[in-house]
Amino acid sequence: YSLQALNTFGIDVKARYFVEIQSIEQYLSLLNSGLYAHVPHVFWGGGSNVLLTQDLDALVVKIAIYGIEVIKEDDQYVWVRAGAGVVWHDFVLYTVAHHWSGIENLSLIPGTVGAAPMQNIGAYGVEIKDSFDHLLAFHLHTHVLQTFDAATCEFGYRESFFKHDGKGQYLIAYVCFKLSKEAQIQTSYGAIKDVLQAKNILEPSIQDVSQAVIEIRQSKLPDPKEIGNSGSFFKNPTLPQNQAEVLMKAYPQIPHYPVAGSTDIKFPAGWLIEQAGWKGFRDGDAGVHAKQALVLVNYGKATGQEILRLSEKIKSSILTKFGISLETEVNIL
Ligand code: EPU
Repeated sequence: YSLQALNTFGIDVKARYFVEIQSIEQYLSLLNSGLYAHVPHVFWGGGSNVLLTQDLDALVVKIAIYGIEVIKEDDQYVWVRAGAGVVWHDFVLYTVAHHWSGIENLSLIPGTVGAAPMQNIGAYGVEIKDSFDHLLAFHLHTHVLQTFDAATCEFGYRESFFKHDGKGQYLIAYVCFKLSKEAQIQTSYGAIKDVLQAKNILEPSIQDVSQAVIEIRQSKLPDPKEIGNSGSFFKNPTLPQNQAEVLMKAYPQIPHYPVAGSTDIKFPAGWLIEQAGWKGFRDGDAGVHAKQALVLVNYGKATGQEILRLSEKIKSSILTKFGISLETEVNIL
């Protein structure tokens, strides 16, 4: 079964078996099938944060649980629950259209609702942990549907319990967000302010913020339908204060950000990669995006191995030039 259309990098690899499940009931009947017991399985969302480097000798289970539902509301908030298979951006547009505020800054992020908590998706000053209420996940060994709140999800920067102790042990089925009926405008991120200012919008609505984010993303990030990619390939590194100061002395123009609740300082990997001369680099069909050096791209027929090799060259070049060891953000399979 070809996975090419199921991963945004557009890598042409195959899975031995493929099945789509639309409900927990369908998952339970899959559990009882002989195939499930004898073949390793991999859960699949939007395939937007993965680099496939080989054929998968496994059963790929695409989570296609849909539906968006208000499960509770009061004067100030709505609790909105979406199926894991709902396309993330569709969910954002739905909440924006209903004037529910909280995730408008996360417009146009590729992927599905169910994948969002895995790495606590974030952009333009907001992370899902800020408006996350709970999720329902099926434990793969005990077959019990468990509820996780934000604390048990152990959210961090592009991190959660599901990437660590919970890895490979749960199927996320539903995610519920607590959204505000009153707009909670978050424009601390400079580029949003610039776009709004250029349009002369002084008191932005959440629709305006969503639209601004869409425009910023479209101007910098390649559309996976045109050029294969998985967004940021590496995480932005953080350094303890003393090391950060050495770096900032050597490169006074380096952008840097405080890290909440810590004295560490975060640096943009895209800047480091650009300074090391990689921006716009291309070797065959594997490359570094010309407008955002943090994004690796597949111009057509690159293999996962080729992209991986390119990423390793970039890593070692950043280590040599800046003494910083970049961490991969995308999941390598
Ligand atoms: N920069 C450069 N050269 C580049 C790219 C960036 O100098 O080629 C500099 C920019 O000038 C800016 C800074 O680096 O000063 C930050 O760049 P940008 O605003 O584009 O954001 P980022 O740090 O590269 C992160 C997230 C993105 C998210 C944006 C906006 C990570 C790993 N990435 O990127 O998330 O959309 O901020 O909030 O944290 C993703 O996770 O896939 C993703 C796209």
